Amino acid sequence: MVEQNVMEKIVSLAKRRGFVYQGSEIYGGLAGTYDYAPLGVALKNNLKNIWWRRFVLDREDMYGFDAAILMNAKVWESSGHVGGFADPVVECSKCRARFRADHLDNEELCPTCGGALGSVQEFNMMFETKVGASSVEDNQAISYLRPETAQGMFVNFKNILDTFHPKLPFGLAQIGKAFRNEIAPRDFLFRTREFEQMEIEYFVRPNDWEVAFQELRAEILAYLSDIGLKTRSLHELEVPEGERAHYSKRTIDVEFDYPFGQKELCGLAYRTDYDLQAHQTGSQVDLTFFDEGSKERFLPHVIEPSLGVDRLVLAVLCDAYTEDEMGGESRAYFKFSRAVAPVKAAVFPLLKNKPELVAKARAVYEELKKVVPQIMWDDNGNIGKRYRRQDEIGTPSCITIDFDTLSDNTVTIRDRDTGSQSRVAIDSLPALIAG
Ligand code: GLY
Repeated sequence: MVEQNVMEKIVSLAKRRGFVYQGSEIYGGLAGTYDYAPLGVALKNNLKNIWWRRFVLDREDMYGFDAAILMNAKVWESSGHVGGFADPVVECSKCRARFRADHLDNEELCPTCGGALGSVQEFNMMFETKVGASSVEDNQAISYLRPETAQGMFVNFKNILDTFHPKLPFGLAQIGKAFRNEIAPRDFLFRTREFEQMEIEYFVRPNDWEVAFQELRAEILAYLSDIGLKTRSLHELEVPEGERAHYSKRTIDVEFDYPFGQKELCGLAYRTDYDLQAHQTGSQVDLTFFDEGSKERFLPHVIEPSLGVDRLVLAVLCDAYTEDEMGGESRAYFKFSRAVAPVKAAVFPLLKNKPELVAKARAVYEELKKVVPQIMWDDNGNIGKRYRRQDEIGTPSCITIDFDTLSDNTVTIRDRDTGSQSRVAIDSLPALIAG
């Protein structure tokens, strides 16, 4: 039997245990789309909640935002996306397959059939759509699925000034879907056509951009540590001029060691006043900021931390995937940190056929669930099988209710990583299992 590579094992475990499924699978799938199953949603929500907590709730200078995905097409004309948000594509003259030119070793020959490749064309990655029921094919009806959440925040800059009167520096933070018509979606959740972003547009005085850049750079690394990613798997990369996005004067990417290579996980860009300037020109609305202290009027500059949630999910799955041996048996499981684990603990009655044990275990489970909602009940099969099932999905603790529990209100708590068990009071459980 051919040994599966690590990536195949991760994809297979993620599917088999209900983290991520191929999108539209029963119809043969839709390339570049994935559906999050219950454990995947729980994992993803944990990553988003930890981000929201660190960057929005724990700070006084951040405002949460949630803009519409569909926007006036002029937004994307002004932002430069209609004109310039494109990847280089080449088409094979023989089999008609299309490839990203910058991902090919040989730009002359088709990697699939060996046919001659045509010249490089620019392929705009925005998904175009029509808004309204108009039968007239005019430009008014065209819109795009947003390729980044950022623009929804830039075009609301004036609204925020008018309603919240913030002082500089301040930021807008948003979590939401974005869409890119990737020429070659690949590597599971890494390059998809529909994905979720967590972005901040942090507005600063032009001269203060470097201080804010360094502060947010440190915060991103702190967040990646919050979600349990190992420092040795992360690499900061200064993106050279020429490879940066059209709006950026400085970009640092954080790359991660995925099984398929060191690739981008998230980025930090200095967008200058590019976007506010572009929308001020495009809309003819004054987007300047008036500084009450200095009596100056100017366009703030922007630092943008941008994180792809699906890439983070993938990084966390890859980082956590572990194979080892316990009790003479091999196991493959997700060794999630407690903070991100989709299930913090599982609660079992030692025996399923003893009503007094089941009743006590249900009571423990129900009380605990009020304080730590991400817990699971399991009474199927023997204890060994339950441990293995919980290990696979990365549950850090298993709690067993046995006959001693009935008399002394203590339970056995078993650790996923070491298999060690200890006896603890029921009252201590919330503190022990909370993420
Ligand atoms: N807003 C930056 C990006 O989507 O890459």
